[in-house]
Amino acid sequence: MELILDTADTSAIKHFNEYLTIDGVTTNPTIITKSKKEFHAVIDDILSILNDDQALYVQVLATDCAGIVEEAKYIHSLRKQNIYAKIPVSNEGLKAIKECKKLGIKVLATAIYSAEQGFLAALSGADALAPYVNRMDNLGNGVENVLDLIQMLKVNNLPTKIIAASFKNTRQVHELIKGGIQAVTVPTDVLQNMMDHPMTDIAVDTFTKDWENAYNRTTLKS
Ligand code: E4P
Repeated sequence: MELILDTADTSAIKHFNEYLTIDGVTTNPTIITKSKKEFHAVIDDILSILNDDQALYVQVLATDCAGIVEEAKYIHSLRKQNIYAKIPVSNEGLKAIKECKKLGIKVLATAIYSAEQGFLAALSGADALAPYVNRMDNLGNGVENVLDLIQMLKVNNLPTKIIAASFKNTRQVHELIKGGIQAVTVPTDVLQNMMDHPMTDIAVDTFTKDWENAYNRTTLKS
């Protein structure tokens, strides 16, 4: 499974890159604006951190097919490899995804609020799908919709990858990893919560104290 960071915060990207194996970074217009930097500066900063094997996902802003394709071409030109144009699955977006595929542009279909929308984007040739788990949870059951989407792609032999997105808690991520998701893009607070457990720190403290009491040092070797 791929682990992707859902952030444009470069210090967070550096931090998690150091501690975990990160497969890429997803952004969207809202995430970019949170950085308080200009679009180009954000993208340059992120690209200066990522290695060639780590993917970058950048979302279009245009809402009409021609405009979406133009912006997707631009996104495609930002990097030699491993760059995806994120295209929301509006009606115009679905049309644009077909055009982008003819042009050889890698596409992550996004803003997916139902398994059917995701399935249609896969039929249109999207390389990957980003169903919005928490946003769907707010309307019904996000995890269940994504599990259905996994099944729909499988029984139809579609190669499209699902990158589950829009997480608000570790349980949502847990359920989808258990369900066989291929990739998750996780906000930094949720990822840090996945890493941390207070009992781990308490256990480590106890090991150290026991060692120190016995040998009067905190290192393995004397
Ligand atoms: C990532 O690709 C999505 O844009 C993102 O996960 C949406 O998250 P949100 O629902 O927290 O805005």
